[in-house]
Amino acid sequence: MLKGRSLVEPKDFSIEELDGLFQLAEKIEKDEKYLRDSCRGKLLATLFFEPSTRTRLSFEAAMLRLGGSCLGFAEPGSSSAVKGESLADTIRMASSYADAIVMRNPKEGAALLASRYSNVPVINAGDGGHHHPTQTLTDLLTIRQLLGKIDSLTIGFCGDLKFGRTVHSLSKTLAHYNKIKMLFISPLELNLPEYIKKYLKKLNCEFEEKENLEESMPELDVLYMTRVQRERFFNEDDYIRLKDTYVLDSDKIACGKEKLIVLHPLPRVNEISVEIDSDPRAAYFKQAKYGMYVRMALLASILGVEAD
Ligand code: NCD
Repeated sequence: MLKGRSLVEPKDFSIEELDGLFQLAEKIEKDEKYLRDSCRGKLLATLFFEPSTRTRLSFEAAMLRLGGSCLGFAEPGSSSAVKGESLADTIRMASSYADAIVMRNPKEGAALLASRYSNVPVINAGDGGHHHPTQTLTDLLTIRQLLGKIDSLTIGFCGDLKFGRTVHSLSKTLAHYNKIKMLFISPLELNLPEYIKKYLKKLNCEFEEKENLEESMPELDVLYMTRVQRERFFNEDDYIRLKDTYVLDSDKIACGKEKLIVLHPLPRVNEISVEIDSDPRAAYFKQAKYGMYVRMALLASILGVEAD
């Protein structure tokens, strides 16, 4: 049962619970009337202390499609955070107004702290360079829909694996599935953090670290491209030097399998050339739409309007 539960880190939900959410999202996708109005009278607070397009809009669209309402802010400048209010106090307030809270914050650990001060479920919509578990729900639902399974796949992650929170959450979750192989393709300076590698090793998950994208392409079932996370760099020169290390274009995708799918959490900057958008293997815009369905399933489950 997910009713009343927070989602702060990927490990908060078991593989069986994720499976239940994907089945529910698939039902909603097939029949858009399913669960319509089931959240009538419920309020979702969306507290975004960092920029967002897809995550915030898809959560709001999800809540509105379920018949509920949303309140909140899209930038910290319009909240009392600028007056020096602590996150704990902001959360105490929001949790007395709303039935659930979705929060994005630049500090690692902010969602965990929020969940400790909240009387209602808290959903982590990104805490600094740490985690982004609802993007993982989006990514896994897309893989399941387009490849028909999540087990026995080779997944390549490419780009900024150091600061890319979507990579951290997805790789940790994939490590719980069967026969998964992960290739982490990045410049040395943007390697996956040690704590994630330790986690994968503990679960005996097969993975390799690489620097060359072309070499890895033929092996992949899924290529997960990411943007270099400019806002997390201490030094703009380092960002400029590293930002275009990988650009997926027609020459590179030509070495990929016919059934490869290319995912990207978006926003894209330069790392996927626009010529790839019309390639049947490009799945990133579909992925963004699945994000709304899986967030509907998540909200319906934690608000208890759908027995899971
Ligand atoms: C990602 C994020 O915020 O971490 N975006 C998203 O939520 N779809 C990826 C990114 O910003 O690069």
